[in-house]
Amino acid sequence: MKNLVRAFAPATVANAVSGFDVLGFALQEPGDTVIAKPSEIPGIQIAPLQDSYRNLPTDPRLNTAGVAVQALLDSQNLSVGVDLVIIKGVPIVGGMGSSASSAVAAVVAVNDLFELGISTLDLLPFILESEKAATGVPHADNAAPSLLGGFTLIHSLNPIDVISLPTPESFCCAIVHPDLHIKTKDAREILPKSVSLSTATKQMGHIASFVSGLYTEDMEIIRRSFIDEIAEPHRSKLIPGYDAVKSAAISLGALGCGISGSGPSMFALCANQELAQKAGEAMVGAFHAVGLMSELFISKISSQGARLL
Ligand code: HSE
Repeated sequence: MKNLVRAFAPATVANAVSGFDVLGFALQEPGDTVIAKPSEIPGIQIAPLQDSYRNLPTDPRLNTAGVAVQALLDSQNLSVGVDLVIIKGVPIVGGMGSSASSAVAAVVAVNDLFELGISTLDLLPFILESEKAATGVPHADNAAPSLLGGFTLIHSLNPIDVISLPTPESFCCAIVHPDLHIKTKDAREILPKSVSLSTATKQMGHIASFVSGLYTEDMEIIRRSFIDEIAEPHRSKLIPGYDAVKSAAISLGALGCGISGSGPSMFALCANQELAQKAGEAMVGAFHAVGLMSELFISKISSQGARLL
């Protein structure tokens, strides 16, 4: 057992437009850091979070990091004490995978703290327990890219089959987080329970084409397959100025623009950093025009994912 371990896990963009619940990618920043220390008090203790995140629960049964670590400890029949300090960098209820980032960083830290030797991919089921607790559904399109980095495709959850996709080196992303709160649970409830055969067929074409664009680094294929016929028609109604923000990004050269995860953040995927900066500023301006302040993040795609610090 070690005395203290620190781990970082990046924010993520889930769905990545064409792959509802099955595609996501990791950002280089922002991210969450978790410090884990053994404790003489049995169970998980979570320290109060920094000021702007004070309303996040410190009860480990209600905090995603606590739920994931408990699932990890239970799997090993370990009844130890552990103190967790969570340093948030990812905005909460923003659509950037905040709940997954904390859970990922926490299990990576605790796995190393108690020298459990569990492989990175085998940590995923514990994080999915926390995603299920937070949203009702164990979707992996935030957890898997945060853990593994890069573009990640979820082929199956049962059994877990996650595929790391190639990520063009120059890709850069603008993520704009408007001053709105949309809970993933609520954003899932507004979705229809089924889609028509023609919608399913079209969406299969979009994601297959997007993935082929990643392999061939063909920007035109990526551009024309950046389409979401499943969630966007419903969720975009929750985001004032949605169409204007999307048009602003695309008119400035973004390959595509859409909802990051379940929103309200929107992201623009761009071929390079300069285009991402321009697209991001235009998106902030478009939100401003409808009376919404927003925060802009510019990040390359992290091929690394979670790591010990
Ligand atoms: N795929 C999930 C959803 C991501 O869209 O509901 C939530 O961050």
